[in-house]
Amino acid sequence: SENKLWGGRFAEDTDAFVEAFTASIMFDKRLANQDIQGSEAHAEMLHKVGVLNAQELADIQQGLAAIRKDAAEGKVEWSIALEDVHMNIEARLTDRIGIAGKKLHTGRSRNDQIATDIRLWLREQVDFIAGEITRLQQGLVELAEREAHTILPGFTHLQVAQPITFGHHMMAWYEMLERDYERLLDCRKRINVMPLGSAALAGTSYPIDREFTSQLLSFDRPSRNSLDGVSDRDFAIEFTSVASVIMMHLSRFSEELVLWTSAQFDFINLPDRFCTGSSIMPQKKNPDVPELVRGKTGRVYGSLISLMTLMKSQPLAYNKDNQEDKEPLFDTVDTLIGSLRSFADMMPYVETKPESMRRAAMQGFATATDLADYLVVKGMPFRDAHEVVGKAVAFGVETKQDLSEMTLEELKQFSDVITEDVFDVLTLEGSVAARNHIGGTAPEQVLLQVAVAKASLAAR
Ligand code: ARG
Repeated sequence: SENKLWGGRFAEDTDAFVEAFTASIMFDKRLANQDIQGSEAHAEMLHKVGVLNAQELADIQQGLAAIRKDAAEGKVEWSIALEDVHMNIEARLTDRIGIAGKKLHTGRSRNDQIATDIRLWLREQVDFIAGEITRLQQGLVELAEREAHTILPGFTHLQVAQPITFGHHMMAWYEMLERDYERLLDCRKRINVMPLGSAALAGTSYPIDREFTSQLLSFDRPSRNSLDGVSDRDFAIEFTSVASVIMMHLSRFSEELVLWTSAQFDFINLPDRFCTGSSIMPQKKNPDVPELVRGKTGRVYGSLISLMTLMKSQPLAYNKDNQEDKEPLFDTVDTLIGSLRSFADMMPYVETKPESMRRAAMQGFATATDLADYLVVKGMPFRDAHEVVGKAVAFGVETKQDLSEMTLEELKQFSDVITEDVFDVLTLEGSVAARNHIGGTAPEQVLLQVAVAKASLAAR
């Protein structure tokens, strides 16, 4: 037990299996940079308040810088016997610089250290993720602008409903991501609070200056309660819930891309470099990226449930249970970044197949509502118009033709208020152009929304 940093009160060595079972270094080594960053700020503060002298601070700074470099170059041999990233770094520091290394832990605990490390790390990841969402939104806006006039069937119940524009459809995804972006930035506010100085749970008797440390680490402020500071993980749960909503959106989007690339829809083409083939069926080109993103959504939901369950019965303050927060959090961040990245990379290269989308829109009586609205304008109550158009549709099903393909004579058998001008509303172009109000599918409105979106993205 001599070799443990906490070995003083122990009479026998830790059981070898228990040592490995309780260690976290295998995964928390990922926080090495943040751990060093926190230690540097803590040391600088200890010097400012007179706990460390100038020489000790200089030794610690130089030692930590060397460890950071070694870690970046993969030269650190992380030790399971040293349990976690905090004690690995501290032991290594003491090996390098001697006595000053042993003073670094004054006025702090691994409990406030880990809480601080995770927040520093997650803050960086959130900023990167915000950039990836922005990149994906940019791709969507450009695609929407390019395809503002392209018509496809809009669906409800996955049955053809009304014609819409492809640009309008892409801007719907843009809006969902816009809310995701806002949720992410809001969650960042609660991540960016500094627990360091809470020490083990009650604070410390040293004259620490937490405002100073907080500024050094660019936190908004120190946490206001030490018990809460060391034991709160709701910031991580909130992040994972934001990530779950983003993945839910990407999963729905994935489902559409998978459908749209199938021969049955044939609405779009994804470049070969985002697809893979089959080892047995030579003709196959599979939309693996969206399929995988859809599948990975389950991992992120799983992490959310893991973290919620991890926290639900913990009494104040820190409990070792919390060591289990890292793997789900890391996995959430990796999965989310990978999914956003593949979508952002792919979006500019989505090719539409306007002819085929048009054909699909023509097959499902997509302008039936337009015919009903036309009859209403001519004075018929909407319910009666609904009935009349229903009959016209039944005739179309029987004779295998769209409403726009019927002759005026054929249409007139359903109502004599129908005249030649009916064909202006029965065309796909007429139908989308008519929905020309805020939020409507008309190309003109789509282009307005594109302009608003571009300005908002440029202002980020
Ligand atoms: N490895 C621990 C964690 O991840 C660090 C804090 C441990 N503190 C303690 N007193 N055992 O939460």
